[in-house]
Amino acid sequence: MNANEAIDAAIEALRRGEVIGLPTETVYGLAADAGNTAAVLRIFAIKGRPADHPLIVHIAEAEALAHWALNVPATAHRLAEAFWPGPLTLILRKQASVPDVVTGGQDTVGLRCPAHPLARDLLRRFGGGLAAPSANRFGRISPTSAQHVRDEFGAAVPLVLDGGDSDVGIESTIVDLSGETPRILRPGGISREQIEQVIGPVAVGSGAHSPRASGTLEAHYAPRTPMLLLARDALEREAGQQRAFGKRVGLLAIGALPEDGDGLVLPVDARAYAHGLYAALRLLDARGDNLLLVERPPDTEAWLAVHDRLRRAAAGASPDDDAP
Ligand code: TXA
Ligand code: MG
Repeated sequence: MNANEAIDAAIEALRRGEVIGLPTETVYGLAADAGNTAAVLRIFAIKGRPADHPLIVHIAEAEALAHWALNVPATAHRLAEAFWPGPLTLILRKQASVPDVVTGGQDTVGLRCPAHPLARDLLRRFGGGLAAPSANRFGRISPTSAQHVRDEFGAAVPLVLDGGDSDVGIESTIVDLSGETPRILRPGGISREQIEQVIGPVAVGSGAHSPRASGTLEAHYAPRTPMLLLARDALEREAGQQRAFGKRVGLLAIGALPEDGDGLVLPVDARAYAHGLYAALRLLDARGDNLLLVERPPDTEAWLAVHDRLRRAAAGASPDDDAP
């Protein structure tokens, strides 16, 4: 099947109300027709996600904003112009026509125009919006390749469009524009600085009236193997001690592995690190070690989104299948 035939098959599946694996530049999504309540419910069932956690609606063009959102503020148009297609999700007041199942019953909707060429082609030819969360079981590590999605869901998601490795590697930045002040609910591929250059000062983190975002739960993006986040010297000490106790320890280091360390290395550049992060966590998790030790990245703005994911992954790491 060439890419065109794969897209045709995906459109037919979506029109039948099925759920497909969708490549995007951030991570892979589990997509269904956002206008079809039964299809969207299927996403929740497959993912094991609580029904009150809203999904992002993916659209082909910024022109579709007004179809999904009400009273679209000028800040939304400016951000869309600057960063779409790309790794930015906007939270806006929803149109009454947006199904409740998509928004978890909230009066806002998350909208994103993804940059991946396959996703764009699919969206243009499909015509409607696609509701899609990341294609991982709830609370677990997000997928950055078609194979990750197949590993995660097998026969439950027979059609996965293969768009290669996701470029960015971590989820989109979420900006809430539904309240008084713009607010970053989830850091991601687009930095606070980039956003402030376009719309001025933004708040960070969820406010008292912020909508719920499961990507902002304390425990998320987590491997099954217990995981600790440590500075380089502490990591080397801990690895030595754990090995002395007979434990199998997997390391995720930056730049180079410590002497006689066993594990994986990610680049010293924050963007390149983010690109490889989830694949590395999946590989390490599959080794069945007793413990994962992850080197803590520098405390600078460039690493903010990576820090966010690592902190939640460490908080959620647990051998239980039904961890949050
Ligand atoms: O990069 C991404 O955003 C990926 C790709 C597939 O597009 N999608 C993704 O979806 O990360 P998901 O469902 O795993 O995370 C979306 C986050 C969730 O934390 C959800 O609660 C939040 O966005 N969200 C969606 N709609 C919202 C809304 N109306 N209000 C507040 N948060 C919302
Ligand atoms: Mg997710």
